[in-house]
Amino acid sequence: MKLFQRTQRSLFGEILDWMLTPLLLLWPISLALTWLVAQNLANKPFDRALVYNVQALAQFIQVAPGGRARFSLPQPASELLRADDADIVYYQVLGARGELLSGERDLPAPPSEFEPETDMNEVPALRDAEFRGLPMRMAWVWVPIEGARAPALVQVAETREKRSVLAAEIIKGVMLPQFAILPLAVLLVWLALVRGIKPLSELEARIRARRPDDLSPLDEHAVPQEVGPLVSSVNGLLTRLKDSIATQKRFLADAAHQLKTPLAGLRMQADLAQRQDADAEDLKQSLQLIGLASMRATHTVNQLLAMARAESGGAALAHQPCDIVQLILEVVREAVPRAMDHQIDLGYEGPEPGSPELSRHGNPTLLKEMIRNLVDNAVNYTSSTPERPGVVTVRVRSDPFSHALAVQVEDNGPGVPAAERGRIFEPFYRALGTNVDGTGLGLPIVQEIARQHGAEVTVDDAHPGQQPPGALFTLRFAR
Ligand SMILES: Nc1ncnc2c1ncn2[C@@H]1O[C@H](COP(=O)(O)OP(=O)(O)OP(=O)(O)O)[C@@H](O)[C@H]1O
Ligand SMILES: [Mg+2]
Repeated sequence: MKLFQRTQRSLFGEILDWMLTPLLLLWPISLALTWLVAQNLANKPFDRALVYNVQALAQFIQVAPGGRARFSLPQPASELLRADDADIVYYQVLGARGELLSGERDLPAPPSEFEPETDMNEVPALRDAEFRGLPMRMAWVWVPIEGARAPALVQVAETREKRSVLAAEIIKGVMLPQFAILPLAVLLVWLALVRGIKPLSELEARIRARRPDDLSPLDEHAVPQEVGPLVSSVNGLLTRLKDSIATQKRFLADAAHQLKTPLAGLRMQADLAQRQDADAEDLKQSLQLIGLASMRATHTVNQLLAMARAESGGAALAHQPCDIVQLILEVVREAVPRAMDHQIDLGYEGPEPGSPELSRHGNPTLLKEMIRNLVDNAVNYTSSTPERPGVVTVRVRSDPFSHALAVQVEDNGPGVPAAERGRIFEPFYRALGTNVDGTGLGLPIVQEIARQHGAEVTVDDAHPGQQPPGALFTLRFAR
């Protein structure tokens, strides 16, 4: 039970609530039970005395000749009945015909279910009753009379004063210590909790005391067993964070290196052009090389920006339904001039745009970036000769039943050797043996965008067994 509604819940308060609330609820129940038990206990000795009195009175019933019952109570015995300063005692002796032999006439009769025929067991019975406006405890017994048809009845009634006093004494004896024990129990629970929660505060202090660059794992054994999994998951997070920071540092270093090369080339060419003996031809060549180096630097910066856009794109850029075929046609159209420069036959095979099952939810700029990188690679790495013209085909395959969608970019270039296939998706990795310029960021960009759009990218031989085998990049979109 929550005593107070908090926005941020305290573990300490929660445990305290759940321990103390049942304790406080159980307390009145225990009070009620104690009261019942005390009543019962207090009745026992006085009931026994009452039974004894009834039996004693029954002894004084005598049978006169002719079956008539007589009753005479000696003085000391009648004194004994009254000798009680707390309670009033009444008695009644009725003969076989119901006539009063002695005592109070109007004492209540035994309940009707206790008729003499059924109740003749000579052992006095007990009941609660009311007499003259006072609650009474009564004992009665039927005494068989020789020669008479019905038995005589002896009843003794006693007010409940002594019993109430004794019950109150018992309750007091049990309850009073509880008033002291309960606050003590609350205090002990409090102290135990403070002690139990201490390892958490120590853990917090240890984390606070760390240097900002300290990502070493926390000691899982210095915390209680229950907190172990939490610490271990934080350690997992720290490890991943460490890896991710290391990757980012490496990426930054690689990016700086990639930019340094063309920039150093620029400076060198500028220095060369400024030589005293440089003629017009040298100047022209230097300017050409400067143009090339600046193009390379621009490409690197563009790829770095594309990578950054792809990595932050998941959350930052708006997603919308995109017609994949439409996007492919745009990319292919934009790549045609470059393909013609390389004498490469660039084409598209697949369904027309506009059909709803070829649409995927995503960001069109990122999706185009992804396809453009694959098409650029195919165009760049495929060489065209008159005997063997370069062919690059972009293909869309869709399964009308499963609604699966695959985009393939196929070329008849050198292909990617099986050993390289795992590595070409790493940032800045470039397979050796090509004289093509590049940064090694194209495929990591493709993979990142694919991941964000629930797609998977793989590379295979386009024409297995042939030489050269050609490369076949496949993007599989999940439905
Ligand atoms: N179609 C292809 N045929 C043969 N090799 C390829 C093909 N596509 C990629 N590769 C190989 O994979 C490597 C990585 O490609 P990626 O696109 O990531 O980088 P890049 O093309 O070198 O640089 P960028 O794309 O940033 O200009 C390339 O260096 C190349 O060796
Ligand atoms: Mg590339």
